[in-house]
Amino acid sequence: MNGTTTGVTLELHDADATRALGAALASVLRAGDLVILTGDLGAGKTTLTQGLGAALHVRGQVASPTFIIAREHPPLVREDGSRGPALVHVDAYRLGGLDELDALDLDSSLEESVTVVEWGRGLAEALTEDRLEIDLARPRGGDPDPDNPELGTRIATLRAIGPRWSGIDLTTLQD
Ligand SMILES: Nc1ncnc2c1ncn2[C@@H]1O[C@H](COP(=O)(O)OP(=O)(O)OP(=O)(O)O)[C@@H](O)[C@H]1O
Ligand SMILES: [Mg+2]
Repeated sequence: MNGTTTGVTLELHDADATRALGAALASVLRAGDLVILTGDLGAGKTTLTQGLGAALHVRGQVASPTFIIAREHPPLVREDGSRGPALVHVDAYRLGGLDELDALDLDSSLEESVTVVEWGRGLAEALTEDRLEIDLARPRGGDPDPDNPELGTRIATLRAIGPRWSGIDLTTLQD
C-alpha cells in the first residue's frame, strides 16, 4: 500500500521536549529515511534535529547552518561497538529550487543516512518515495510573549508517507 498514516499530534512544552521527540525518532528511523521538517522561523526544526543527532550518536554539533546548506554527521561507534546511520542535515531555506537541491547530491548519501531537510516541503519529496513529514507550529496567543522564541508550546504533527511506513505505529512517540 502506498498509504499515508493518519497524523500523530504531540504537544512540546519546551525545547527539551522538542529534543526528546528528536531523540525518540532515532529508534524509529533507519538508513535511507527522509524526514521533512516544516514550521515557521524559530519553530524548533533545528532543535528537533539536535535531539535526533545526539540519540543517533553522530559526530559534530547539529547547528543552524549559516553558509552550509547540507552537513553530513558520520556515525560514531557506540559503547556496544555498533554504529548507526549517518545524519545528513539540510537547511533548504536558501535553496532556489529543485536544481539547487539536485546539486547537493543528496542521492549519494541517502541510502546510508537519515536525511533531515528543514524547509524541505515542496522540494525534498522528489528525493524518495517515502518520507516522514513533521510540522512544528507555534500557536499564537495564550503565551506570555509570543515573540520570544524561547517561549511557547509547539504542536508537532507527524505524517508518514509511502510503503516504508505501512504498519509502523507513530503513536509510540507520544510516550
Ligand atoms: N517546544 C518548545 N518550546 C519552547 N521553545 C522551544 C521549543 N522548541 C524549540 N524551542 C526554542 O525555539 C528556538 C528556535 O529553535 P530552532 O532554531 O530549532 O528553530 P528552527 O525551526 O530551526 O528555526 P529556523 O527556521 O530559523 O531554522 C530555540 O531557542 C529553541 O530553544
Ligand atoms: Mg533551523
